[in-house]
Amino acid sequence: SEGVTVAELAEALDVSANDIIKRLFLLGTPLTMTQSMSNDLVELVADDMGRKVRIVTAEEENSFSFYDDPKDLKPRPPVVTVMGHVDHGKTSLLDAIRHTNVWSGEAGGITQHIGASEVMINGRKITFVDTPGHEAFTAMRARGAKITDVVVLVVAADDGVMPQTIEAINHSKAAGVPIIVAVNKCDKEEANPDKVRQMLTEYGIIPEEWGGQNMFVNVSAKKNIGIDELLETILLQADVLELKANPDTFASGNIIEAKLDRGRGPVATLLVTRGTLHVGDTIVAGQSYGSVRAMLDQHGEHKDEARPSDAVEILGLNSVPAAGDEFRVFEDARDARDLAEQRALKARIEEQNKVKHVTLETLFEEM
Ligand code: GTP
Ligand code: MG
Repeated sequence: SEGVTVAELAEALDVSANDIIKRLFLLGTPLTMTQSMSNDLVELVADDMGRKVRIVTAEEENSFSFYDDPKDLKPRPPVVTVMGHVDHGKTSLLDAIRHTNVWSGEAGGITQHIGASEVMINGRKITFVDTPGHEAFTAMRARGAKITDVVVLVVAADDGVMPQTIEAINHSKAAGVPIIVAVNKCDKEEANPDKVRQMLTEYGIIPEEWGGQNMFVNVSAKKNIGIDELLETILLQADVLELKANPDTFASGNIIEAKLDRGRGPVATLLVTRGTLHVGDTIVAGQSYGSVRAMLDQHGEHKDEARPSDAVEILGLNSVPAAGDEFRVFEDARDARDLAEQRALKARIEEQNKVKHVTLETLFEEM
């Protein structure tokens, strides 16, 4: 099936098919009642009529609805992504928050992946996502901004605003996520937290105390200064957002990172955004599928379920999904396998076509 027909769109929008045919004609794409339209064309015509439509794919239609009745929505913990320039102290800050020491375990002290951890503060949970600051990891920062409720922008007070600071601001703004600024390394003699505030105003990040929208906290991850205030600020920001999700439905969310583990097979860290994920559930994540064989928290402890805003590691997928892939529970294991296999096949075909498209002509064009 190739999309919606003119007649179907007319019915969906409750307008006459003739009206649509007329508009299509004016758009330079004459079609008849029974001919089908591409998704782009559907959106264009709807837009032309001052209507917004969202194309539901066959996959979506065949599965459960993503609609939640407002009465089913329950408060959920905030997901907070830590971003900033390389070496400004993101992982150290998370260590100080967790009172652990992940940092010393990293190769050369450089974060090369996205990590998630849950922290309890005064009986309230916050899910933190660490991102790398190295310039090579733009895609991870972009994904980090998309899956989060709040961004903590770490800026070293001795170094100030740097290229990946600006990049992080842009990703956060693009994702529409509020930014809290943690001005780090305030223990250093060269630290100039006010200069950081000044520099950030150029990028539209203006402290509340200066009449702006952003909360700033001076911290030192190394000396454990300002950490409680930062956590309070995060919870305050979260309260404003009134975060909610329906926990009583099939789980869905995003893959944060995934790898192939020698002993355990594909291992994926995922963030649940809706519903509750249980051990034994069948999921599809991008081109991967499988039933959740085991679920572990960040300390490697087994869990039976993961609720909205929980980040867990799961075992049981047939292959390694891509970071950023959406995942979703399926009631029917066969449907799950079919969908994942279809996607994998489609990806392979696209890959082959890409190779084919490099003809002599395009090669010369590139030269
Ligand atoms: P990437 O993940 O690679 O982008 O780095 P990062 O932002 O996670 O920085 P990381 O936590 O690895 O810290 C970088 C360096 O800064 C380390 O040598 C830390 O010890 C040091 N550092 C972090 N926070 C502070 C601080 O508050 N004060 C001082 N003096 N040094 C700090
Ligand atoms: Mg780091």
